[in-house]
Amino acid sequence: MTTLRQSALPLPLLRRGKVREVYGVDEERILLVASDRISAFDIVLDQPVPDKGVVLTQVSAFWFGTLAAARPHHCLAADADAIVREVPALAPHRDTLAGRAMLCRRTTPVPFECVVRGYLSGSAWKEYRQSGTLAGEPLPQGLRESDRLDPPIFSPATKADTGHDENVPFAHVERALGSRARVLRERSIAIYAEARAHAARHGIIIADTKFEFGTATDGALLLIDEILTPDSSRFWPADRYQPGRAQASFDKQPVRDHLDGLRRAGSWNGEAPAPPLPAEVVRATSERYREAYRLLAGRALEVR
Ligand SMILES: Nc1ncnc2c1ncn2[C@@H]1O[C@H](COP(=O)(O)OP(=O)(O)OP(=O)(O)O)[C@@H](O)[C@H]1O
Ligand SMILES: [Mg+2]
Repeated sequence: MTTLRQSALPLPLLRRGKVREVYGVDEERILLVASDRISAFDIVLDQPVPDKGVVLTQVSAFWFGTLAAARPHHCLAADADAIVREVPALAPHRDTLAGRAMLCRRTTPVPFECVVRGYLSGSAWKEYRQSGTLAGEPLPQGLRESDRLDPPIFSPATKADTGHDENVPFAHVERALGSRARVLRERSIAIYAEARAHAARHGIIIADTKFEFGTATDGALLLIDEILTPDSSRFWPADRYQPGRAQASFDKQPVRDHLDGLRRAGSWNGEAPAPPLPAEVVRATSERYREAYRLLAGRALEVR
């Protein structure tokens, strides 16, 4: 197992997100590095979860390599040796890169999050309960929380730099992007549908997910960012699926249960900083992440 709280590589740091660092390599390429930081209830916790970043990067790499619908995409390499061959300045940092880094084609990101929902959960369930709609469009009556949606529904959101992304109607994306809006919708639904079917055969329900797209220097519209990871999606264990209520999270449930317990006991007010996690909770969470990789990819996670 490896643990990384934060990377510091000899490349220009373009951005530090809640979980990942983004570095510029050259005009054409960037390097994404997933740390082991974990957030719960929108708070980044103090302790890293060993191997979580490796799981995020390798789950994305698995999907980029597996899903026909994911092409064209930005991933050039997710193997440390291949990355060092491409960017020799990183040779002394091979251990930091191992499993966590992805060399990607640089793009100008489209300013919308392309959310696809295949089950009614989270903010979508909230909207449906209040108004019978999802992304402003009416849905059939009588749906329960966590019910499956067929076909899956595209529910875009604006990309907010701070705070919460805001759900917007599809017409809003069309006004901003013209005919590209439909392309994004069709591609997003196709990628999600292919992944949902694969995951279902392997014991994981992908309830919903978020894609990003970007325009490459040659004008190609590429699928970018992480894809279909536990951080960009809701993963549920299929064997415990029971519509009519909220579902357990495949990956973060040990953390949520622990923090929820503290809140109910009145020993934490729910605000940052969150109290430290017991070692057992960290271990169980790390194990869940590796298990998600093992189920989806069909082999144990190797950190190379
Ligand atoms: N190929 C690419 N070209 C340009 N930008 C990209 C590319 N791939 C990903 N990005 C951008 O990299 C950034 C990743 O940072 P982000 O803030 O999402 O990190 P994060 O750790 O996932 O944080 P959060 O949990 O807040 O989402 C995003 O803004 C995304 O648009
Ligand atoms: Mg992100």
